[in-house]
Amino acid sequence: MLSNQIINWYNQHKRDLPWRQTKDAYLIWISEIMLQQTKVASVIEYYLRFIDRFPTIGDLAMAEEQEVLKMWQGLGYYSRARNLHTASKTIQSQHNGVFPVNYPDILELKGIGTYTAAAISAFAFNLPYAVLDGNVFRILSRYYGVKTPIDSSVGKKIFQKLASETMGKASPEIYNQAIIEFGALQCTPKSPKCDICPLLKSCTASQSGLVALLPKKTKQ
Ligand code: ADE
Repeated sequence: MLSNQIINWYNQHKRDLPWRQTKDAYLIWISEIMLQQTKVASVIEYYLRFIDRFPTIGDLAMAEEQEVLKMWQGLGYYSRARNLHTASKTIQSQHNGVFPVNYPDILELKGIGTYTAAAISAFAFNLPYAVLDGNVFRILSRYYGVKTPIDSSVGKKIFQKLASETMGKASPEIYNQAIIEFGALQCTPKSPKCDICPLLKSCTASQSGLVALLPKKTKQ
């Protein structure tokens, strides 16, 4: 089963990343927002400094925006920091300072889209939501040989369904970390390591010479 193979690979190759050592939804949220547009290697240092200064939602909500932005300086995309600050105040006023524990409530927070809501739901609460990001589009399109453009509305539906089916009954927490890691280290956009890939024989793209052509976008 694909999920088991990816999880087995993950158990042998995973990196020890600080946000993988916590179940605190607040800390996972900070890490996922930072990771949206920034590489893991750069995020680690910012993440550790940010959570040292703002260890709880309350600490973030009570801070001045200027200080939040200062802690973000160098990461770029500053609306991410403003939205985090706004959402922390919403959690204080509307959720008694407790991070919401279900997907719909998480999705309502400012700056949180379907990817981040699924990631927090899975990593903090082990809820069965399959993340769908660039890594997942790439792995699934190659493995199953799906040529539908990932940025089309029909493509998004196909891949969301495929992502949920692929996760199946696997642990959402482990499976989602595993597929993100597999995309980051093994099934990379350029020069994927097909020669040492455990999925080589069952991967449609590798068997039919399509690896470099997938995933497909509407305009390439
Ligand atoms: N990119 C987005 N989320 C991630 C995570 N949890 N671990 C590593 N890279 C990521």
